[in-house]
Amino acid sequence: MDRAQRAHEVSVSDMGLIGEVLAGLTATPKTLPPKLFYDAEGCALFGAITELPEYYLTRAETAILRTIAPDLATLLPAQAALVEYGASDEAKGAILIGALAPRLYMPIDIADGALADLQARMAHSHPTLPVQPLVADFMQPLVMPSGIGDRRVGFFPGSTIGNLDPEAALAFLRRARADLGAAGALVIGVDLEKSPARLIPAYDDAACVTARFNLNMLARLNREAGADFVLERFAHQVIWNAAQHRIEMHLRSEVAQVVMVAGQAIHFAAGETIHTENSHKYAVPRFQVLASRAGWHTDQVWTDADGLFAVYLLR
Ligand code: AVJ
Repeated sequence: MDRAQRAHEVSVSDMGLIGEVLAGLTATPKTLPPKLFYDAEGCALFGAITELPEYYLTRAETAILRTIAPDLATLLPAQAALVEYGASDEAKGAILIGALAPRLYMPIDIADGALADLQARMAHSHPTLPVQPLVADFMQPLVMPSGIGDRRVGFFPGSTIGNLDPEAALAFLRRARADLGAAGALVIGVDLEKSPARLIPAYDDAACVTARFNLNMLARLNREAGADFVLERFAHQVIWNAAQHRIEMHLRSEVAQVVMVAGQAIHFAAGETIHTENSHKYAVPRFQVLASRAGWHTDQVWTDADGLFAVYLLR
């Protein structure tokens, strides 16, 4: 079944997100949470982003994972439970599964449609591997299934940790330590800080796929939260915030306007923005400091040949 035709997509209201949406839109400056990107349409657009010439992250990380898979097989325990945070598809997880031969794969994601599709594909590609998906916001405490065992390997690819500000990233890393236990390990992919000339096009591509991905958040609120955003009155905006080491995505109101969202009037000044996403970028030492503050020791760091992206093994 096509994701867009799925009858049981989790909606903004099912997820109890309306309060979070209205709080963000009535705050100064206005914000919306990035997890809102990932409805069926947003997941498809993100898939298209990963294939853009400008969006180097997925290709660089995949190349690293393929190269280090044999190393990981010797560094990590066999027969572990592989817990993947933010697993919208199994492409990268499959590389680790091939190397580690885990006894259980637990993909965690907020996008239930994407997880159901993942499970269906895994039943064909890995018929003997138990797959136990968990529909959850990985920023909330997780309930690990009983019988998961002590040998737990966490996997957090895609530089998704970059969506979190450093304090939230620290909280995530601490919580992952608790999830994965004293014997646990975490393989995490983090985009490296680099020149804005390289970073900005990765988030503002020539084909405007990222613009559509950003604007889809408003389209989704129209579909699911009774909002009446006119998409043509908002523009995709990308900023390199050097002081905070992050790419910011915003939706800029091109005119002064009033939009209704879930029965509430939201006022925009001309030029005012909704801040929709941060993608924090880390030089290796800065990420290692963050990880160590969360109680993790960096066992190994690998980067790709072009020095664009880093994968860390934390213990
Ligand atoms: C999936 C959160 C890592 O920040 O690079 C891609 C999302 N946003 N283009 C990123 C994204 C715009 C992506 N993450």
